[in-house]
Amino acid sequence: MNTIIFNKELSPGYFHMGISAPELAGKAKPGQFVMISVRDGRYDPILRRPMGIMFIEKWGIEILYQLVGRGTYIISRMGPGDPIDVIGPFGNGFQLRHDRDIWIIAGGCGLAPFFELVKQLSHKMEKGKKITMFLGARTYPDLPALGLLERFGIKPGIATEDGSAGFHGLVTELVENSLSESHGKDGPLLLASGPFGMLRALADLAVRRGLECFVSIDRRMACGFGVCLGCVVPVKQVSEDAQESGESGAGISYKCACTDGPVFNAREIVW
Ligand SMILES: Cc1cc2nc3c(=O)[nH]c(=O)nc-3n(C[C@H](O)[C@H](O)[C@H](O)COP(=O)(O)OP(=O)(O)OC[C@H]3O[C@@H](n4cnc5c(N)ncnc54)[C@H](O)[C@@H]3O)c2cc1C
Ligand code: FES
Repeated sequence: MNTIIFNKELSPGYFHMGISAPELAGKAKPGQFVMISVRDGRYDPILRRPMGIMFIEKWGIEILYQLVGRGTYIISRMGPGDPIDVIGPFGNGFQLRHDRDIWIIAGGCGLAPFFELVKQLSHKMEKGKKITMFLGARTYPDLPALGLLERFGIKPGIATEDGSAGFHGLVTELVENSLSESHGKDGPLLLASGPFGMLRALADLAVRRGLECFVSIDRRMACGFGVCLGCVVPVKQVSEDAQESGESGAGISYKCACTDGPVFNAREIVW
């Protein structure tokens, strides 16, 4: 059993929680996630809820979560000193690249897994390479924890659907507009997390612009470690013959978002 260190509401419906879990933290990487028990009775709700790891510290981990349904409501009522049952870390996480310009694109709470990535990468980037962030949400209050990015010297480009802050429109439009000003071929590596539609639009943009793009996929997850098959993602299956001949002839197969992902090459997914 782990212990809650803090659980603060950052803006209405968005919470930042610190959980004492030194062993788990010692194994965690940016982009991985944990499965949190949200029971308020003995067995109910029975399924754990997946949450991305926001920060990895010696003493444990921090998460950033949105109030969605019963499970997140239950944990939002907990406070410092309360026991909480967390297992993990799970999933593959992001590859850390110091040698490329990186553009991070996040929608709402999709921002969570990028804090640790930025923390680990920002002071190690090779000369001339930098991290740029684009954040999108429906309204400005749906972009919690922005202040925490300041400590890494990052000022993200912001897009809101209602125009309450930054660019008025979708974050994918903002990314596309910004790309047209940058150089074509040697473009940035795109890393993204957020709603399915946003990821699909980015995958499309990456193909059109010849960019490499990795996305963290959000699926309903019952176990988190490859047993229930509830989280499968359709992916392109390239036959050995096609691979050898360089053809793109492909069928569809399935991968588990929890063990093969949640981070996938956007070109691999059948959107
Ligand atoms: C790998 C991974 C990492 C995640 N990281 C974060 C994070 O860092 N912060 C965060 O706020 N959320 C994150 N999520 C989503 C989070 O797991 C769900 O919001 C949470 O499980 C909702 O639980 P609930 O009991 O409150 O809602 P429920 O009562 O289970 O569901 C309420 C409503 O939300 C929808 N819903 C529930 N879970 C999901 C989901 N995974 N995807 C889409 N819709 C869902 C349901 O369809 C339902 O309509 C992540 C999901 C995955 C798969
Ligand atoms: S969540 Fe059970 S197999 Fe992925």
